Amino acid sequence: MSFHPRMDYTPARFHASARALPEPGEAFAYTPENQARFDANVTRYPPDQRKSAILYAVYLAQGQQGYLTGAAMQHVAQQIGCTAAEVEDVVSYYTMFFTRPVGTYVLNVCRTLSCALLGAERVTEELSRVLGIRPGETDPTGTFTLLEVECLGACDRAPVVMVNDDWHERLAPEQVEQFAEALRTRGVASLSGCHLRKEGGPDHLRQGYGGPPKPSAEAEGPPLRRS
Ligand code: FES
Repeated sequence: MSFHPRMDYTPARFHASARALPEPGEAFAYTPENQARFDANVTRYPPDQRKSAILYAVYLAQGQQGYLTGAAMQHVAQQIGCTAAEVEDVVSYYTMFFTRPVGTYVLNVCRTLSCALLGAERVTEELSRVLGIRPGETDPTGTFTLLEVECLGACDRAPVVMVNDDWHERLAPEQVEQFAEALRTRGVASLSGCHLRKEGGPDHLRQGYGGPPKPSAEAEGPPLRRS
């Protein structure tokens, strides 16, 4: 174990742009519900700036399919009116998008300075030991995928782990076994959540992303992953 995290993304190669689309996979098209969501969202932007909706469009595709195939990226490109390479650029840049299947729970361990100083590397090592997988891998049951990511924006509650769309703060290495078991049995209800949303802070964090008022459920955006 080193004190400072190694800034080496291997073997977690989820997010290195291949400058090429992944395998097309099965034919992909939005469900009627997701098509309606996309159509409503894209009207928020001027017609010549439809690319502004790429993130939303990619979220919809991943939420529908669980990860993003080449066919899904092609579909998003058609919807937006851009090239598939532009969609791939977005997908490969952001750590929340996946180009291959992931587990039910994606464990994103922050490894940036505050978390590193307070033991994030040991948290990752413990998760690897308990789950039997290394960063970038999914366990054989398809329950957990382990990733290391950069700052999650909750540095004063380090070490922080993002689990799908939810937060768990101050995860000590010695708590990892209990943390994993609680996730298995109780799901995301076992997580601490984000302290800013619970204790105060900017309105948009206390009252949920998107901020008040919420004119409709659409304002909350699509789920990151299929339920
Ligand atoms: S350094 Fe880990 S949340 Fe900021």
